[in-house]
Amino acid sequence: MNELIEKRRSIRKYRNDKSVTREQIKRLLEAAMFAPSACNSRPWEFIAITKRETLDEIARIHPNAAMCATATAAIVVVAIPQDGKPEGYFPQDCGAATQNILLEAADMGLGSCWCGVYPRTERIAEIRALLHIPEPKIPFNVIALGTPDEAPSPRGFFEESKVTYIE
Ligand SMILES: Cc1cc2nc3c(=O)[nH]c(=O)nc-3n(C[C@H](O)[C@H](O)[C@H](O)COP(=O)(O)O)c2cc1C
Repeated sequence: MNELIEKRRSIRKYRNDKSVTREQIKRLLEAAMFAPSACNSRPWEFIAITKRETLDEIARIHPNAAMCATATAAIVVVAIPQDGKPEGYFPQDCGAATQNILLEAADMGLGSCWCGVYPRTERIAEIRALLHIPEPKIPFNVIALGTPDEAPSPRGFFEESKVTYIE
């Protein structure tokens, strides 16, 4: 298995003396946009945040994104439902883009944490208002980013019982 897949963990404490650069953010977004998407629809946009006040505000309004108070950057993945309809493949597409960001961040020595927004209506409304995201676009998640100030050990594991082989 690729060691990045094993090494990546959700990081919830970041060093405040090292910022995430614009170049690093661009590399993360390049990785995001190489993700697969249904019919190559690429139903995503990204908001890259390094402004301290905005990161602190996200930590304040999102009950499970308190780590944004120590993160030095965050990327908000914004979903664009096809034809403005809420159904469709955009959650998978945006999830794939998100996982690419997490793995690329791990490769760059950055920590990250995927903080869910969609499909919680209250969280969508708050992040939409904070970042002025117009309908029908949907804030999908907040990805906290920064230099890790903790080093949790690998957590994933393989469960043979969850696999059915058809041979
Ligand atoms: C859809 C989704 C939503 C998540 N939302 C949050 C969140 O709001 N806050 C948080 O601290 N972690 C969140 N996580 C991270 C998970 O808690 C974490 O991935 C899981 O506990 C496994 O730990 P690991 O990422 O370190 O392997 C989320 C993960 C996913 C995939």
